[in-house]
Amino acid sequence: MGQDTISITDNRSGKTIELPIVKGTTGPPVINVASLYKEFGIFTLDEGFTTTASCQSKITFIDGEKGILLYRGYPIDQLAENSHFLEVAYLLLYGELPTEEQYKDYKYHITHHSMFHEGLKKFYDGFRPDAHPMAIMVGVVGALSAFYHDSTDIHDPKHREISAHRLIAKMPTIAAASFKHSVGQPFVYPDNRLGYVDNFLNMMFSVPSESYGVNPVVKDALDKIFILHADHEQNASTSTVRLAGSSQANPFACISSGITALWGPAHGGANEAVLKMLGEIGKPGDIPKFIERAKDKNDPFRLMGFGHRVYKNYDPRAMILKKSCHKVLEELDVHDPNLDTAMKLEELALKDDYFISKKLYPNVDFYSGIILKAIGIPVNMFTVIFALARTVGWISQWAEMIADEGHFRIGRPRQLYTGADTRSYVPMKDRK
Ligand code: SDX
Repeated sequence: MGQDTISITDNRSGKTIELPIVKGTTGPPVINVASLYKEFGIFTLDEGFTTTASCQSKITFIDGEKGILLYRGYPIDQLAENSHFLEVAYLLLYGELPTEEQYKDYKYHITHHSMFHEGLKKFYDGFRPDAHPMAIMVGVVGALSAFYHDSTDIHDPKHREISAHRLIAKMPTIAAASFKHSVGQPFVYPDNRLGYVDNFLNMMFSVPSESYGVNPVVKDALDKIFILHADHEQNASTSTVRLAGSSQANPFACISSGITALWGPAHGGANEAVLKMLGEIGKPGDIPKFIERAKDKNDPFRLMGFGHRVYKNYDPRAMILKKSCHKVLEELDVHDPNLDTAMKLEELALKDDYFISKKLYPNVDFYSGIILKAIGIPVNMFTVIFALARTVGWISQWAEMIADEGHFRIGRPRQLYTGADTRSYVPMKDRK
């Protein structure tokens, strides 16, 4: 049987062409429109890329209607329940769960790349104490490319692997240092005797004058948050990393571009915005007023942590985080009024026709902020936590793109031009 195709007729000329339909493992097939310009002299337009596949990938699959999220085929709830972040990072990067031997070797490399060059510490001195940690992350991660000339041949698989190890290993150190800078405390070096998440918490919260012990509830909650934020198909920041990488820029510069895109409140900045929104709402009694504002086209207010471009069902990550939220607050004996407000807001919004008709459900950011606050992460570090975890997805997607020699080319979208047509220059003296 021949390949499935879709016929397109240009009614201006009556010409019909067949465009190939390409199927993946699962999920919607795609129409390959590459021949459209040659055949008809026309481009496609899809502002916001609502129905455009930008690439082929084997890493993450999302079914937005069914609320399904798979990392390399493994359901997110199984990984959140049974795995841990460093193992999930291996899975995303290499495509398979590691054997004991593979994991031991990989963990050794991640552990022994956790320090950063002493020269990098000087970058922090240039930032004001009140600099947002995400601003520091953008600068410092991009600056890594000034220190690693020994592994920036992106076409060398060993260079790609060591860059990935360096980024996965150093993000916790860079992130914790961003926090220490903002609170005026001395940086804490990584301790190779500690696990990945324990090490991050130690670098964040230990001080030279006191001993520090990691609370296992906090560590498990943060490990789960890292797993849930690790990758998510071709979201805005991952697409930014892929586009930057398509010019053959070095991986550190590409990850810095991903951090930049993630920072926006419509994307990774939403977790910080949710906490601010819950604080602005205050008591649950004021929720109806804010729901009405969110529905008002003339009011820029949006329910942060609600809605998603792909999920038109509950974000499976939000389901997991909602359960984890209750467990963590109970185990830490934390009573956060924001949780009561969040629960009431979710209940009322999900009964409201506006949210039902537009299929707006809580997303990953709706509960994550409450957990992060409960385990002591300051609000301005929430998106940094997201960036730390998503670095694994970004670098895995970047490496997949570069390694795919058959499809790797610079990304260069076209446009629908609506500006002025050709016109002649007018000297200043003749302008009205
Ligand atoms: C993340 O892409 C990913 O995978 C992202 C992410 C990842 O892991 O990488 O999942 C992480 O970014 C989660 C999303 C975090 N952002 C927020 O919580 C911010 C609030 N949400 C919205 O800004 C919005 O829902 C987006 C940005 C998430 C999605 O925007 P879309 O897909 O462009 O949808 P849209 O803005 O076109 O909304 C469709 C309709 C609109 O109404 P109409 O113009 O059709 O009348 O729904 C309305 C919107 O006004 N709407 C909302 C709303 N979200 C959408 N109305 C009120 N409150 C909201 N939160």
